[in-house]
Amino acid sequence: MKGYTKELLLSREDIQKRVRELALEISRDYQGTEPILIGILNGVIFFFADLVRNLTIPIKLDFIRAASYGAGTTSSGTIRLSKDVEIDIRGEHVIIVEDIVDTGLTLSKIKDNLEKRGPESVKICVLIDKRERRETQVNIDYCGFHIEEGFIVGYGLDFNEQYRHLADIFVLREKGPSD
Ligand code: IMP
Repeated sequence: MKGYTKELLLSREDIQKRVRELALEISRDYQGTEPILIGILNGVIFFFADLVRNLTIPIKLDFIRAASYGAGTTSSGTIRLSKDVEIDIRGEHVIIVEDIVDTGLTLSKIKDNLEKRGPESVKICVLIDKRERRETQVNIDYCGFHIEEGFIVGYGLDFNEQYRHLADIFVLREKGPSD
């Protein structure tokens, strides 16, 4: 089995500060409304929990579960919705909340799917926008951090279901012969 090392990319303090800023921005933009925030499980759990608790407006929340990755770090290109939204979103303002956008396939498919249900608006909020492998154009309305490349773990993000529980975010690297 290959070995991996992890290097700190974003500390818990950096993350919490940026999440509070995003929550403030969303609260200002949606003042006077009650948007539905839809988190994409599982990776979003900590980001979602921190984001919604820093909002100063009333909201409703729900979750979708999409599986686009099997074991490993590369996209399979197919997305399966294994849990759907339970709240009726017709006529409502929706904000999709995701941990990371990579190829863009997951978010564009979910956005198209939700738009067909007649919401008033659909926007996207991601913690991390990773640009290296974008395959489809997807408009990100709220973004925590941009990174160019690398596979990252922690704060909900996993590699083969490991590392999700870490409070900071790390870049995962395969160990070389000198490590
Ligand atoms: P996309 O459809 O390629 O944009 O993939 C989005 C999903 O891929 C995310 O919700 C993650 O589950 C997973 N993903 C993409 N890049 C990473 C990464 O660097 N670390 C952990 N998961 C990732």
